[in-house]
Amino acid sequence: MSENTAAERKTALSGIQPSGNLTLGNYLGALSNFSDFTNEYNCFYCVVDLHSITVRQVPAELRRRTYEVLALYIACGLDPEKCTLFVQSHVHEHAELSWMLSCFTMFGELSRMTQFKDKSAKHADNINAGLFTYPVLMAADILLYQADVIPIGQDQKQHLELARDIAERFNGVFSPTFTVPEPYIPKVGANIMSLAEPTKKMSKSDTNENAVIRILDDRDTVIRKFRRAVTDSDTSVRYADGKDGIKNLMTIYSCFTGKDYAEIEREFEGKGYGDFKTAVGEVTADGLAPVQKRFSEFMADKAYLETVMRDGAEKASRTARKTVSKVKRKLGFVTL
Ligand code: TYM
Repeated sequence: MSENTAAERKTALSGIQPSGNLTLGNYLGALSNFSDFTNEYNCFYCVVDLHSITVRQVPAELRRRTYEVLALYIACGLDPEKCTLFVQSHVHEHAELSWMLSCFTMFGELSRMTQFKDKSAKHADNINAGLFTYPVLMAADILLYQADVIPIGQDQKQHLELARDIAERFNGVFSPTFTVPEPYIPKVGANIMSLAEPTKKMSKSDTNENAVIRILDDRDTVIRKFRRAVTDSDTSVRYADGKDGIKNLMTIYSCFTGKDYAEIEREFEGKGYGDFKTAVGEVTADGLAPVQKRFSEFMADKAYLETVMRDGAEKASRTARKTVSKVKRKLGFVTL
């Protein structure tokens, strides 16, 4: 991508919750694509800690993971000099705009969110209002920065569409105020599935560790988990209906090698699933190793991470403040 001058750049923004140890799904669906935008776009990448408390968190773990997600951002090639890396709770405008936007979001719209339905089924003892209004906070994250493009995995598409609807509704009532964002969903890797139940999304909060590859899993663990991955009773490596497990492994292999499905089928013709699973494990471990190495270096330097957080919060606040003032003016709040 060519480098644009700051004035003509569009804005890219995304966020990841520090609510569990990040997975290969988070990496391939979102994180590994973030750095593609840094030359051409004005980028904001956020650790969305406010989002994560919709589900109970252990405070010490939440704090540690917040540092970890930031360290992973940098380890995945996001240069804090070239983009704004920050923690959501450090910029209070997220919560402020979220309230205002909640008055432009319909109860029915939020009721239709599949993530709300899934999470309320999973946490039936804690269906709190935050879980319900979560997509409004996500819309605020995006609209605060007038973001044009949002790199996300498939599971966030519905939330992004709601953010677009909220922006259009507000713009319709008050004249153009918000940029209407577009999703960027990668062609391959936007929906990485569980290794144990390949019809289900790979999720940070899965209690079966064998179902999930963590970005920070060591080489042996990665290979062992892939070797246990659920496949089917057929024996050929083919991208075909009814072979969800194999399709998922082929997707992962494709992401790390750049090979398309036809090439992968040829490469493993006549070979069994065992060989294929080991190969997927190896390319994944090789792909994650440099990220893990850089991650450890950054995690060893908390002072540096705090400087990044502080500078990022300051930069993000400057943009966020402008949007909030504009919104308040349009709504008719008295400004002094
Ligand atoms: P979160 O923290 O659940 O996931 C972070 C990113 O990882 C993607 N992802 C996946 N991609 C492919 N396969 C998977 N199995 C997989 N699992 C997760 C997600 O799509 C996401 O892009 N609500 C968001 C965080 C958020 C946000 C935002 C994102 C808050 N504000 C503003 C973009 C813009 C979430 O819970 O992501």
